[in-house]
Amino acid sequence: MAIKIRPLSYAIGAELSGVDLNRPVDEATRAEIHRAWLEHLVIVFRGQDLTPQRQIAFGRMFGELDDHKAVPFYRHPEHPEIYLITNKKIGGKESQTKDTGRLWHSDHSFTTHPTTATMLYCREIPPVGGTTMFANMYLAYETLSPGLRALLDKLEAVHSLEHYTSHNPYFSARDPAQIAKMHELSPPVAQPVVRTHPETGRKALYVSEGQTSRFVGMSQEESNGLLQFLFAHSVKPEFTYRHNWNVSDMLMWDNRCTMHLALADYSHEHSRHMHRLTVLGTPCGRRLEANEL
Ligand code: OGA
Ligand code: MN
Repeated sequence: MAIKIRPLSYAIGAELSGVDLNRPVDEATRAEIHRAWLEHLVIVFRGQDLTPQRQIAFGRMFGELDDHKAVPFYRHPEHPEIYLITNKKIGGKESQTKDTGRLWHSDHSFTTHPTTATMLYCREIPPVGGTTMFANMYLAYETLSPGLRALLDKLEAVHSLEHYTSHNPYFSARDPAQIAKMHELSPPVAQPVVRTHPETGRKALYVSEGQTSRFVGMSQEESNGLLQFLFAHSVKPEFTYRHNWNVSDMLMWDNRCTMHLALADYSHEHSRHMHRLTVLGTPCGRRLEANEL
């Protein structure tokens, strides 16, 4: 059966129908999905009745999967490739992934091998809210003036987990010793401000409110104004799509040219439970030298 593609907003996102991910996906279908993903950046499969094994098999068709060794606590008990984004208790304790993604970000941009694709499969969703927003960072770049683009093309910016945790109000609930350990495992990195997508060759803006603190070689004060402008510019409504989840939706997004935001638009009295796969990325960025910190 041919795949049907229906755009979900002007800027980003498309729904793919006519494919059952619970059955083996052949190479021609995989290639069609891959093309649609490169074109629409976020793709949505609805009504997928996916076992963990099938979700993992599908994910592997797009690259090697993270086994989440660094954060073993949130792994699916039987499938280390599946990471739980959930507000349900884990091992009798409050989940610390319940407020994941509350600032705009691109997954793992604070490492030198940021995630290529994230696949998020919805198992439970509150009756209202629990939505996720996405922004098209190609458009964010292309709509800047030639003068600013030429300046940004040459710059790098500092991305860090520390920036994320210290600016995210929801993180205050977390264990400080665990946060310190996370910072130690992920020292700050320099990323290009404009990232050339390795598959499409298009340039995308690669800074985010959640993870970018300043430009490399510039002070905080010098960086602030321009960064604030870029953060606001990138998430103008006309560059975005907001996904209202239904149980059994499977989303796949491209972290090389998008950002996303998990909105706190629901009550934790209701369960929100997602199975996430992380497709490992290719190298991007570099460790900061001691004199650049
Ligand atoms: C993520 C993430 C968003 C959400 O899994 O990387 O940011 O809406 N999740 O759960
Ligand atoms: Mn994320």
